[in-house]
Amino acid sequence: MSLTFTPLGASFVAEASPIDLRTVRDRDTLERIRAGMDEHAVLVFRDQALSDADQLDFAQRFDGTLHARTSTAVLTKNRFGNEALTDVSNVNEQGEILAANDRRRASSVSNRLWHTDASFQDPAGRYSMLSARVVPPVRADTEFADMRAAYDALDDETKARLAPLQVHHTIVYSRHLLGFEFTTAEREKLPGAIHPLIRTLPGSGRKSLYLASHAAEIIDWPLPEGRLLLRDLIEHATQREFTWRHEWRLHDFVIWDNRATMHRARPFDDATHRREMRRTTTLDLPLPQHS
Ligand code: OGA
Ligand code: MN
Repeated sequence: MSLTFTPLGASFVAEASPIDLRTVRDRDTLERIRAGMDEHAVLVFRDQALSDADQLDFAQRFDGTLHARTSTAVLTKNRFGNEALTDVSNVNEQGEILAANDRRRASSVSNRLWHTDASFQDPAGRYSMLSARVVPPVRADTEFADMRAAYDALDDETKARLAPLQVHHTIVYSRHLLGFEFTTAEREKLPGAIHPLIRTLPGSGRKSLYLASHAAEIIDWPLPEGRLLLRDLIEHATQREFTWRHEWRLHDFVIWDNRATMHRARPFDDATHRREMRRTTTLDLPLPQHS
């Protein structure tokens, strides 16, 4: 099968030619998708009518171990019976739109902050895959930022200054910014994780800025300076030239590399329209060796 990628954005994001991800099993095609990810960082696959089982199977076939210690798992029991299938929607078990003050809604609304998935864990998230199951009749986009292009645009002196820095990521911090507090018991399950600010991506050799709303402090720096630098860098990285907005169609399947991008949900009238997505995220573990 010939698989081609058509670039959509200036520096990143491509649409993959027709392919049925439910049936892709050969290692060669899966590795071509990985190579496409190394180049484009976000890939859009159209017309993927995946079941939950299809999505879970594909994610593991493609990239290994799934992230299941999610922040939503700490809050509620997963309505699909599998914590590795994250419910990214605004409805309850009965399929009714969540009340404005529902804790689950407060948590998912936080996706409107720029972030990378599971940066508050170690290992963090590598690829996230989002499947559009119910798309509202209004725009409810997901916006991405290319953190490689953002890194490349820094001057040499800044790159050298940032190179040794380590960052503590915790979801307790990003939620607190929005007025959402975890209980002590919940907080104990979410201690956060430390990651380098600059990382070299193994597939492409390119460098990227690894940032997120969860980035709370720079290790060994005073809090105000650390937070201000992180804020400035997020502002830098999310300038128009580095970003792309994905307008969802039913059965779109979008894969992004959390090491190379940030993303955020754009607001829409979620008290009126249903929007149902399912996410699977793989952990950034060493790749299995295939012979
Ligand atoms: C996610 C996420 C954004 C959106 O699924 O990780 O941040 O637009 N989603 O739903
Ligand atoms: Mn996310």
